[in-house]
Amino acid sequence: MTHKVNVKTIQKYKDNNEKFSVLTAYDYSTAKYLDEAGIDIILIGDSLAMVALGYETTHCVGVNEMSIFTKAVSKGAQRAMVITDMPFLSYHTDIPSAIKNCGKMIRNGANGVKIEGYSDYVIDVIKRLVETGIPVMGHLGFTPQFLNTLGGYKIQGKTQDAAEEILKQAKDLEKAGVFSIVLEMVPQDSAKYITENLVVPTISCGAGKYCDAQVLVSDDVFGKYSDFKPKFARKYGDMKSLILDCAKRFNEDVKNGKFPSEEEVF
Ligand code: KIV
Repeated sequence: MTHKVNVKTIQKYKDNNEKFSVLTAYDYSTAKYLDEAGIDIILIGDSLAMVALGYETTHCVGVNEMSIFTKAVSKGAQRAMVITDMPFLSYHTDIPSAIKNCGKMIRNGANGVKIEGYSDYVIDVIKRLVETGIPVMGHLGFTPQFLNTLGGYKIQGKTQDAAEEILKQAKDLEKAGVFSIVLEMVPQDSAKYITENLVVPTISCGAGKYCDAQVLVSDDVFGKYSDFKPKFARKYGDMKSLILDCAKRFNEDVKNGKFPSEEEVF
């Protein structure tokens, strides 16, 4: 039986000074290939609002959408740990509904959830989730669900004081029981300082090479999403061209009567 990556595996990576990888997926077959490629954590990111559903921000998806994508992705992941990003308003109103919504994702096949931000309330939510048996990944620095209060896509933790503040938040999250923390759009030196002062691993999303892990949106990695490419995202392929090429050739073949051939009919 395949060993499933879990919270202990993730902590061991940090303790042994070994890097681990995180990519997003939103469908069954992509999850299957990421799993086969050895990706350690597959994240059903609420970035799916933009890259899979065409919305402008992550605010537009809710628990129902995240449930559908979680069910699909979890079926494709044999080894990788599956984490569902909890969407805007799914854990913010009160603790019972936070537990209910996060628990729903575990029932849908996730092995844990990701919660953005920091406040006394968020700390309580995390404590209660962990008590309930739900692993939690934290998310600090730039937190897209707070886009409107942060005043745009802005780098966080630029000064020593700001880095200290993120470290304080991260330590509180760690005490509350998170098994890892995403640091998004934080300068590399600040992320290094935060990473070196935490027991749990940090996952860089545009926070440089000193974090314990790296996460990217798979549509950026594959070169599929072309509306916007963050500076920190590396494109490893050109899926947009591949899709265009296949679709154009199919279109031509259909219109020229070249599809289907004799071998493709009953
Ligand atoms: O929504 C998302 O995909 C994310 C990651 C990129 C960290 O939150």
